[in-house]
Amino acid sequence: MKQRGISFIGTGSALPSKMLVNQDLGHLVDTNDEWIRSRTGIKTRHLASENESLSDLAFQAGLKALAMAKMDPSELDLIILATSTADDLFGSAAQVQGLLGATGAVAFDLSAACSGFIFALATASQFIRSGVYEKVLIIGADILSRWVDWSDRTTCVLFGDGAGALVCTATEKEDNFLGFDLNTDGTQNHCLNLPYKGKTKYLIHDVSIRQGSYAPIQMNGREVYRFAVAKVPEVIERVLLQVNLTTKDIDWLILHQANQRILEAVAKKLNILDEKVVTNLSHYGNTSAASIPIAFDEAVRKGKIKKGDLIATAGFGAGLSWGGAILKWG
Ligand code: COA
Repeated sequence: MKQRGISFIGTGSALPSKMLVNQDLGHLVDTNDEWIRSRTGIKTRHLASENESLSDLAFQAGLKALAMAKMDPSELDLIILATSTADDLFGSAAQVQGLLGATGAVAFDLSAACSGFIFALATASQFIRSGVYEKVLIIGADILSRWVDWSDRTTCVLFGDGAGALVCTATEKEDNFLGFDLNTDGTQNHCLNLPYKGKTKYLIHDVSIRQGSYAPIQMNGREVYRFAVAKVPEVIERVLLQVNLTTKDIDWLILHQANQRILEAVAKKLNILDEKVVTNLSHYGNTSAASIPIAFDEAVRKGKIKKGDLIATAGFGAGLSWGGAILKWG
């Protein structure tokens, strides 16, 4: 039987209305614009205010992607929401489904931090290939500002909030999802995490019951930097090999937007020209699972990415987790 193909037909993104520039952060912690720009490439970031929810950002991004795809929400079979910062610990995908009015779709959250979008893309591809679902909306959305320690200068300058979305559909004509490779290394979890930190509230016999919340983001920046620069080129090379292509065939490199220096180091290792590297993190900072689909959407809407262009994409982050994929737009 001929394998079912996948095509990509819509992108969308949404950002909170409020912005914070580097100078603003100097009022919170001992930092400055020069340090942040030279070490990360970030100038501004959008931060969700009290009345902006994760579900709403994800909904807005999804709606725009569906409009580009000329698809009514009621046609969707599946919605995967990649997020680590759901409004509801039970998951926010169902709320997004409700907001969209996607009455025929099942929806679930997928949590893989900054690799979430790539993991969601790979998951969606399996449902489409197996013939279970045809029309899928993948959303990457995060509001990490809720979980950042705003008195820790080593992390609070890095992150921003946002959402991005991609519509995929089954097709018999062509197959634009060429390959993927996913990885995790839980032994390195301590390098970047957001752990549960409950306090013991009740003691019943010998059972102690903990309640509470999560500790803010904890990160060993240097280790994460080393990990990204080592693993991301490797994973992209591996997928390329899998699909009999080389870095020369790539039109665009869309990496998780964590740090400009990481993007440049990865591109250099892969011998990919700077002009092929999609970058927008100076405006948005690290938006976690949202960063790849936001960058994708902007490049499509600006007319940079054209139908048939070959895209190498990779996410990396907490877990530790990392993954790459090769696809064609359209
Ligand atoms: N402003 C000013 N100074 C700062 C600072 C800030 N916001 N944050 C840290 N510093 C200081 C440090 O305290 C240190 O001072 P010291 O030398 O007196 O001890 C100095 O700057 C250098 O710190 P260092 O951690 O070595 O900087 P770096 O060049 O490694 O850059 C990161 C730090 C976080 C930007 C970098 O390690 C990084 O990007 N890592 C990857 C993080 C990431 O992408 N995480 C998310 C992955 S999904």
